[in-house]
Amino acid sequence: MKVTCTVKELHKLIKKMHLTPVGLVPTMGALHEGHLSLVKSAVAQCPVVVVSIYVNPTQFNDKNDLKNYPGTLDNDLALLEKVLRETDIVFTPGNKEIYPEEDKREFRFGNLDNVMEAMHRPGHFNGVAQVVNRLFEIVRPDIAIFGMKDFQQLAVIKELVRQTGNKVKIIGNPIIRENDGLAMSSRNMLLEPGIRKDASIIYKTISSASSMITGHDIPEIKSFVENSINNIPEFKVEYFDIVDDTELIPVSKQGEMKKGKRYFGCIAVRAGKIRLIDNIEIGLV
Ligand code: PAJ
Repeated sequence: MKVTCTVKELHKLIKKMHLTPVGLVPTMGALHEGHLSLVKSAVAQCPVVVVSIYVNPTQFNDKNDLKNYPGTLDNDLALLEKVLRETDIVFTPGNKEIYPEEDKREFRFGNLDNVMEAMHRPGHFNGVAQVVNRLFEIVRPDIAIFGMKDFQQLAVIKELVRQTGNKVKIIGNPIIRENDGLAMSSRNMLLEPGIRKDASIIYKTISSASSMITGHDIPEIKSFVENSINNIPEFKVEYFDIVDDTELIPVSKQGEMKKGKRYFGCIAVRAGKIRLIDNIEIGLV
């Protein structure tokens, strides 16, 4: 694999390869098996894969979160070395390469901007859209792969591509979990040991919620999720909503769930000082 931090060198490398489709996997580093699963799937589909590692300041509404975000570049490169080929590129730009000038673009995503993460992290998706759009402009990928772990982010990026008329194909890959069910996340390494141990409650609870859908009302399921998790010291549910996978409209009763649509239970939890998100498909039978 090649590693470059400049747009100029990246363009030179991609041009030299002369291969398509070009795949892109955007990341903020602190890589784990979740990220690597995206990279492996890109490698299986594309003769050239660009993995970007860039902690994008414009998507952090909480400056402390940005300050504490783990940076493990040497380890990231060692992990990528094992899965990338001669033709693949790791792009590790600095702020000036991504934003030569301040990015003042404002995107409008309708309902996607009004629910769940958007309510708790104002401006977050605008920042995500800025950087992803910029990475698309720089890399010009044919395919870009994202994780379903960030369920709302995936919906926002699909909408971004629709609005900008970009031809890139967006693929959403499944969530990779730790042995105890906790969704892998770069932030997991910031959890204190006791809290990390208790964090398995999140997946356990949303899995139960998913199987409750046939015999219980949605408010009842929501109370179950909130009570089960809020019962654990230092755990607090920010939201648990059941939404469809395109417009992310929260449903309040089963009757609102339409045949042919997919629904997901999405959750955000404060676990000590760390904020964790997860989701699970809620299947109507
Ligand atoms: P980051 O949190 O580093 O995640 C990079 C990609 O890995 C995202 O598409 C995310 O959904 C995926 N991912 C993270 N954990 C995963 C897991 N356990 N299983 C499967 N996929 C997982 O998401 C971002 O960075 C940024 O917002 C970014 C899109 C790079 C823009 O800055």
